[in-house]
Amino acid sequence: MENNALNIELVESGDGSHTLKVAALNEHYHSHKGALQESLYVFIGKGLRQFDEKDCVSILEVGFGTGLNALLTALDQHRPKTSYVSLETFPLDWALVQQLNYPQLVNDDHAAELFEALHRVPWNVETELKQGFSIEKIESSLQLFNSTSKFDLVYYDAFAPHAQPELWEPSIWNQLYSMMNDRGVLVTYCAKGQVRRDMQTAGFTVERLEGPPGKREMIRARKNG
Ligand SMILES: C[S@@+](CC[C@H](N)C(=O)[O-])C[C@H]1O[C@@H](n2cnc3c(N)ncnc32)[C@H](O)[C@@H]1O
Repeated sequence: MENNALNIELVESGDGSHTLKVAALNEHYHSHKGALQESLYVFIGKGLRQFDEKDCVSILEVGFGTGLNALLTALDQHRPKTSYVSLETFPLDWALVQQLNYPQLVNDDHAAELFEALHRVPWNVETELKQGFSIEKIESSLQLFNSTSKFDLVYYDAFAPHAQPELWEPSIWNQLYSMMNDRGVLVTYCAKGQVRRDMQTAGFTVERLEGPPGKREMIRARKNG
């Protein structure tokens, strides 16, 4: 499907960073209150920072989308090894993505180059993009994804439950639990009570954390807490 078949529009969010609006779902790719601040807060601040002492971290992202979380994680690279696997069912066209203003906002001379490389690397092949940081973008739905290796950290960045309820079903948390290492961490911007309870039923220890600016709460879940 062409990107414009879903009528995707580039819009500015509350912190000046861009996001994409999907008219067909009436959804944004990020918080319209601030895309960049949400990604930095939820995925980097409450997720990646938990692994600062580890030499190696393996990350699974559900929903590569604009590549914002991947860019922020690659820019944060300071450890010997980060491996980043990102799932996506609907890859975006570079013609649209190159209009996003993330590289200009993140204050790093290599950001534009890195952002383009993240988008241009082939699908379904693990590629080392910078020293110690490798990415494999997998063109697959989470539901059909079967991993041979386990993950330390999951960035759960699917569209919201009302837009894509199938990605918030109890079976999803069982699947992810089985794909994670002990003491693994899952973070998501969502804070819905039913989601929290379903995660607990799957075996996670669940924390409700203060959300990013403009959102009251978010979830962080741990395996074998
Ligand atoms: C809320 S957007 C966020 C994307 C991304 N993390 C970003 O920062 O732009 C959700 C993404 O999940 C993708 N997606 C939808 N269904 C999916 C599925 N079943 N498995 C994996 N990804 C899916 C969408 O195409 C979209 O790119």
